[in-house]
Amino acid sequence: MPEVVLPRLGTVAAWRAEARRLAQAGVAAESVVWRMGDGEADLLASLPAETTATPMREIRLPREAVASFETALCHADPERFARAYGLLLRLAEGSLRWGDRSDAALGRLLAQEKTVRREIHKMHAFVRFRELPSEGPRRAFAAWFEPDHPVEEAAAPFFARRFGDMDWAIVTPEITTRFADGSLDFALTEGRAAPPEDGTEELWRTYYASIFNPARLMVKAMQSEMPKRYWKNLPEASLIPGLIRGAEGRAAEMQAAAPTEPPARTAAIARQRRAVSPPPTAGGVVPGNEAGNRPPASLPEAKAAADECRRCPLWSNATQVVFGEGTTAARMMVVGEQPGDREDLAGRPFVGPAGQVFDEEAEAAGLDRSMVYVTNAVKHFKFTPRGKRRIHQKPDAGEVTACRWWLDLERDLVRPKLIVAMGATALASLTGTGAGILKRRGSVERLDDGTPLFVTVHPSYILRLPDEASRVEERSRFRADLKAARELLEELE
Ligand code: URA
Repeated sequence: MPEVVLPRLGTVAAWRAEARRLAQAGVAAESVVWRMGDGEADLLASLPAETTATPMREIRLPREAVASFETALCHADPERFARAYGLLLRLAEGSLRWGDRSDAALGRLLAQEKTVRREIHKMHAFVRFRELPSEGPRRAFAAWFEPDHPVEEAAAPFFARRFGDMDWAIVTPEITTRFADGSLDFALTEGRAAPPEDGTEELWRTYYASIFNPARLMVKAMQSEMPKRYWKNLPEASLIPGLIRGAEGRAAEMQAAAPTEPPARTAAIARQRRAVSPPPTAGGVVPGNEAGNRPPASLPEAKAAADECRRCPLWSNATQVVFGEGTTAARMMVVGEQPGDREDLAGRPFVGPAGQVFDEEAEAAGLDRSMVYVTNAVKHFKFTPRGKRRIHQKPDAGEVTACRWWLDLERDLVRPKLIVAMGATALASLTGTGAGILKRRGSVERLDDGTPLFVTVHPSYILRLPDEASRVEERSRFRADLKAARELLEELE
């Protein structure tokens, strides 16, 4: 039985080349053993004398499938290569349809894809650089990180764009990623010395303390956002036990004050971030990638780039960008208006009162929010301050148009089968006009690229109704809309 030993560096590309070669020679899934080597260039198997599968001339998979395969192959599961090869053969022969979630092997691959995306996201969020002495004109930084899955190569382009004007290295127990003079390179890690400390540590401590909101403290949730195993490499982690201990008292104080302004220190950090942000960019330029100037190629990249967006002035008062949430595996995209006060502080869409209505009614309608990509037409909170409160203001046409670049990008990356517009702003962003929403409600329109659009009202419309009876009635109409959208999606699949 041939054994394919894949190199630790360039694993995905090597698997792809070998899988194609074996499939084209008609080698059946059960006649290959796949294994990860620990070298840079392990030897690949010679073809077996006997082949049992049908030889394939050319293998064509949907773009989405290729992306899922490549991501799932960065999982640590030793079975992933064999599983992916088996799936590749079945998809190519037509005995399996891409997206058939009832298939156990495909379900496993998609679940592993999700795990890997999360791991990449964690690496993007939790790598902490420390400055190193540098003799050249570029500043030099290094970071130590211990991922649970071999995601170093997949995670690196984000850092190269973000920190394109510095030299840096990210060292993991297995791989050292280096970025020097604009070029990225990977090598097997030789030593494990942690980089020296510098003043950046204190900055991170201040930052972490300021974004920590004790009123929202849920140790379990916090640990799943920032699992304990990451703490040891985070300078700010030393603050966590103290913050947890003091949380109850501080939460009570915050509730009593009940401001809807961002905490002063958060605002100070946001101002500081703005002061060091790159100059305003007119278009959807990816900061740090001006030379290539290509649009972000994944949702985490898109979110990072949106963080620097200056396409309209709304960024300057908001605490942070609130990008869409969900994965590229989502079949349905739900579009709201803009983040509200709570969303602005949390950095996540639909977590406030409107989000609660949406969650409850979506669940009652049989929609699994984890399978839905939830976003907004406008990604920054627009408000006017009134005393300590921040009063929601509807975004104007210019802001909606400016932000459509991001919504279009999300549509491009997620490619949902169905989009649901909640409210007139979402409808205007997607179709050019939000007029006549109540007449258009419940109907299905076609977008420019043919994607069906289901129209419904915004959950805050329901919350604003003056009497309880109409709120109850509207909620049940909203639920019926979401159920109709779910059924339509099932028909489309
Ligand atoms: N309203 C919206 O439209 N979006 C949110 O994320 C929250 C409230």
